[in-house]
Amino acid sequence: MTLDETLNVFRAIGEETRLRIMALLVRGELTVSELTIILGQSQPRVSRHLKILADAGLAERHREGAWVFYRLAAAAKADASLSAVVETVSTMITAGDRIVTRDGERFAQSREARANLAAAYFRDNAREWNRLRRLHLPESDIEARIIELAGTEKADLFIDLGTGTGRMLELFADQYDSGVGYDLSHEMLSVARANLEQAKIGHAQVRHGDIFSLPLEGQSANIVCVHQVLHFLAEPGAAVREAARLLKPEGRLIISDFAPHELEFLRDEHAHRRLGFADDEVREWCQASGLRLVKAETLSPSAKDKQKLTVKIWLCEAPKNVQTLRTRSVA
Ligand SMILES: C[S@@+](CC[C@H](N)C(=O)[O-])C[C@H]1O[C@@H](n2cnc3c(N)ncnc32)[C@H](O)[C@@H]1O
Repeated sequence: MTLDETLNVFRAIGEETRLRIMALLVRGELTVSELTIILGQSQPRVSRHLKILADAGLAERHREGAWVFYRLAAAAKADASLSAVVETVSTMITAGDRIVTRDGERFAQSREARANLAAAYFRDNAREWNRLRRLHLPESDIEARIIELAGTEKADLFIDLGTGTGRMLELFADQYDSGVGYDLSHEMLSVARANLEQAKIGHAQVRHGDIFSLPLEGQSANIVCVHQVLHFLAEPGAAVREAARLLKPEGRLIISDFAPHELEFLRDEHAHRRLGFADDEVREWCQASGLRLVKAETLSPSAKDKQKLTVKIWLCEAPKNVQTLRTRSVA
């Protein structure tokens, strides 16, 4: 970095609110309105501070419909000197500082409120879910493609993250010896249990668990599936990290979700947080988790299906030699 660039970085972080923002972004991505609530400051003020951090290359902005997200800039993670500054800042101020501790508590409350909103949605819609999922997905085409992409080799263990009504456990039933689906919603899990029983699938089970931190040994599964879950999460990249931790060498992760879209009402009416994902973002999560993005498939709805969304299927693979220790993610 030049002297000017270095000065710019220190000027950007040399202010109380901006230091607080940096300490928050180290914890995870936030929308401007979440930051406004956590910091207890007006939106124009927070936006001004965020702009200064973005101009200094420390934070980056991502607009999605009516929401604007801020996260630590990829450059700040990749550049050794910038990431050293970010790390120093976060370790310097975590030692029990009253304001930063309170910000941290508010961050946790904000994440909890978000998770509660999604949980309430799934609690209220568990029994209706199989009907609801058909509203925005041309299902049979997608499912056929998912199975094709997963390959023909039978898995010893298949894990479905955010299993909901257990549809992926059913779909993959012939592809694994043993299957397990995790979900946070007890209501969804009881529908999944009934579905598996009805379909006479005895080699799969569902369990209550948080996909950010599962009670499973690393490198235990040949296939992990995350189907239509990531757009509900505050930290989708952390879920990918946890999925990567679970994969055996050369194991496959199948992610299915939406391509970027503008259907804002899905946030209000269906608890979506993110309006789809671009290939580049998924590639970044893969790289950060030691996976390789092998394929990115696009399944577009027919012209007459105006309300339907473009669906993406991403196939990712764990390396042959998993040397990098994949740590359990916290989110
Ligand atoms: C849209 S449903 C998808 C269900 C299923 N994969 C499907 O495609 O039909 C998303 C599911 O993710 C679950 N979920 C959301 N956050 C979760 C978390 N942190 N841990 C486990 N499950 C979660 C919800 O309870 C819900 O059942």
